Amino acid sequence: MDVLGIDIGGSGIKGAVVDCDNGALLTERKRIPTPEPATPDNVADVVQQLVQEFAWKGLIGCGFPAVVHNGVAWSAANIDPQWVGVNVADLIQKHTQQKTYVLNDADAAGIAEMRLGAGLGKNGTVLVLTFGTGIGSAVFVDGKLFPNTEFGHIEIRGKDAEKRTSDYARQKKELSWEKYALRLQEYIEKMEQLISPDHIIFGGGMIKYWDSFSMLIHARAEIYPAKLQNLAGIIGAAIYAQELEAKP
Ligand code: BGC
Repeated sequence: MDVLGIDIGGSGIKGAVVDCDNGALLTERKRIPTPEPATPDNVADVVQQLVQEFAWKGLIGCGFPAVVHNGVAWSAANIDPQWVGVNVADLIQKHTQQKTYVLNDADAAGIAEMRLGAGLGKNGTVLVLTFGTGIGSAVFVDGKLFPNTEFGHIEIRGKDAEKRTSDYARQKKELSWEKYALRLQEYIEKMEQLISPDHIIFGGGMIKYWDSFSMLIHARAEIYPAKLQNLAGIIGAAIYAQELEAKP
């Protein structure tokens, strides 16, 4: 089944049509900068613009950077506070006239990595972390997602972890890889204390620098770079929509 996958992020809104049987992209990936302010109507307009550019008629799966419960945003850490309480799925459906399913962006990326990327065939507890504007997390136990874990917001040294350890924080503070790796290591150890994962997959925008920092970090779990790079969010959102649609 073909589904339009959308990934709403703090700096860009990305989309492509995905063949959910094999995760292949059937169109190019298009990106439109996230509007400012990123209010619900402004963002939904951009999603509508993407739908028009693809001349898309059909199912939409959308990753969104917040806690998403049955389509409704329950938090707004790196997005406009007006989103809290908004039914994101209904809003996009209203703007695009196409049936839409919405989930947390890191959960979407995690689904793609588990089905087609670095998590393929991995059982036990798999923790997928995305490092970008914030830190996103997705947890799978024997392949099944435990949604909305929000581990980017655990407290480290009295601060929200993503404020110290996201890729945005690394860039803003101009941290060397050595300095940044110390923060990352502290974060990994805290996560291992909390959930003792068997595998940790590192993803998000930062993953393109894997060779600059992977030798500086260690874990009891097996660690891997994400395979699907910046397409994971789009592909995972599409797969999620297809799976929900197929449910009786
Ligand atoms: C949000 C998460 C999101 C992550 C990555 C965090 O600030 O709370 O919901 O998954 O950023 O975008």
